Amino acid sequence: MRRSMHVLLAILAIGAAVPVTMALRSAPAAPAQPAKAKLVGAKFSADGKLLRPVDYRSWRFVSAGLGMSYGPAAQAAALTGHVMFDNVFVQPEAYEAFLRDRVWPEGTMFVLELRGSETQRAPNNRGYLQTDLHGIEVSVKDSARFKNRWAYFDFGMDAASATPMPESACFACHKAHAAVDMTFVQFYPTLQKRAAH
Ligand code: HEC
Repeated sequence: MRRSMHVLLAILAIGAAVPVTMALRSAPAAPAQPAKAKLVGAKFSADGKLLRPVDYRSWRFVSAGLGMSYGPAAQAAALTGHVMFDNVFVQPEAYEAFLRDRVWPEGTMFVLELRGSETQRAPNNRGYLQTDLHGIEVSVKDSARFKNRWAYFDFGMDAASATPMPESACFACHKAHAAVDMTFVQFYPTLQKRAAH
């Protein structure tokens, strides 16, 4: 009698536990999705200027181009026949989010760093090596702050802050020719495949 009582209690206990575990399993995902969170890397002054990013060299390296940039520094260099390298960096959180979701999260910031090129330096023979800094260009995605979602900034060699460039300067080309959400993912080897699917 005592034994069957135990069995009965055990059955009742399991019966009570099952709905609880099922309820836990089907509980909705936590509302705060990291992918939807706004990145906080970009810093602005009180009067709305973007402050120069300082640690971008430790971000994710996306690509390097030779003679592929089109901002003021590149135009000035082109007049003298000088070809510049550009190195593109993006915040690590944005890079991971893009690989996962194929969307740049709000707050994403890119830096395009311009460097000179040189060929006559031993033992280099006919290759091109990167030399001194010629400036940085930056883009930030922030729909709440910018009416066109993205804004573009030219910091040159050493400006500590910058105001958004006029739409005709940078925005127009990015809008017309960039593959995904104003960014030139079609030229970024590790992101290309994600852009296509
Ligand atoms: C004529 C077209 C054109 C114009 C104008 C232009 N860009 Fe770009 N931009 C590009 C291309 C092409 C790349 C890809 C560079 C690479 O592959 O190395 C790029 C890449 C970038 C990136 C890296 C992130 C991304 O969107 O892919 C930033 C930041 C950037 N440009 C800023 C600027 C700024 C700031 C200006 C204006 C001062 C500007 N660009 C003007 C064509 C343009």
